[in-house]
Amino acid sequence: MMVSLPNTLRVAVRANIPRTMGTAAFSTSASRAMASPAAEQPNMKKFKIYRWNPEQPTQKPRMQTYELDLNQTGPMVLDALLKIKNEQDSTLAFRRSCREGICGSCAMNIDGVNTLACLCRIDKNAPQSNIYPLPHTHVVKDLIPDLTQFYKQYRSIEPYLKPAGPPPGGREYLQSPEERRHLDGLYECILCACCATACPSYWWNGDAYLGPAVLMQAYRWMADSRDAHGAERREKLENTFSLYRCHTIFNCTRTCPKGLNPARAIAQIKKDMAIGAPEVTKRPLQTP
Ligand code: SF4
Ligand code: SF4
Ligand code: FES
Repeated sequence: MMVSLPNTLRVAVRANIPRTMGTAAFSTSASRAMASPAAEQPNMKKFKIYRWNPEQPTQKPRMQTYELDLNQTGPMVLDALLKIKNEQDSTLAFRRSCREGICGSCAMNIDGVNTLACLCRIDKNAPQSNIYPLPHTHVVKDLIPDLTQFYKQYRSIEPYLKPAGPPPGGREYLQSPEERRHLDGLYECILCACCATACPSYWWNGDAYLGPAVLMQAYRWMADSRDAHGAERREKLENTFSLYRCHTIFNCTRTCPKGLNPARAIAQIKKDMAIGAPEVTKRPLQTP
């Protein structure tokens, strides 16, 4: 297979290959040509990371500092965590799976912001980064939050299609392109819990208030033209805590690493409940 090289690299390679030498000479001179002067100078950065081990319950949580050469580390905070775990301390615990902002596993608090470690670029200008688990959660170990309550609340809103009956023609529930567009900005949620754990109301009433992520998913099904239980779904939220603990402070929207707007979805549910019509939510989220 032909490998195309940039012109500057081709010149450097040609100049270094004696006619009698083969592939070995090529790879040696090519890697020498590719090594930039910047890569030879270490670019060190500290990562201060929250540690707590449930197997040593008498020991208080502590911060542990690791140092990495950013020239030898990938660009994202998750790359740094993986490098620390692989090369310095295999006991460091954190969740991750997709490394591309899809699974929601690597949610944590990085330099004061709830976000996904795999989508968060390492700040090369700051000498240190502080990394904590999602705030106001019970900690399983190190950077792993206990999301049992979060998923229990998600189950409570019945996050699946509840149609009126079998589909017309017995095959599938159809939607027009317009009806499908009503779900934009809702279905993309990856349930990372960054928004819920940034919400002051959820910090203080997380046992009863559903929080922004779960409420936005409740709205996602109310807004679905194929679902016939919008009124019933709203009825379940008609109490002091489930919905009305949201005070529209927008911390949730500010922190969402997927750029979604749970506060607006919550405001829409409140508005629809005030109007009281069963089908009023089947329209796109209004933008400011
Ligand atoms: S709304 Fe955003 S921050 Fe909240 S759970 Fe969904 S993706 Fe995560
Ligand atoms: S807008 Fe509502 S859900 Fe979002 S952070 Fe504020 S109180 Fe929490
Ligand atoms: S590893 Fe999946 S969202 Fe970060």
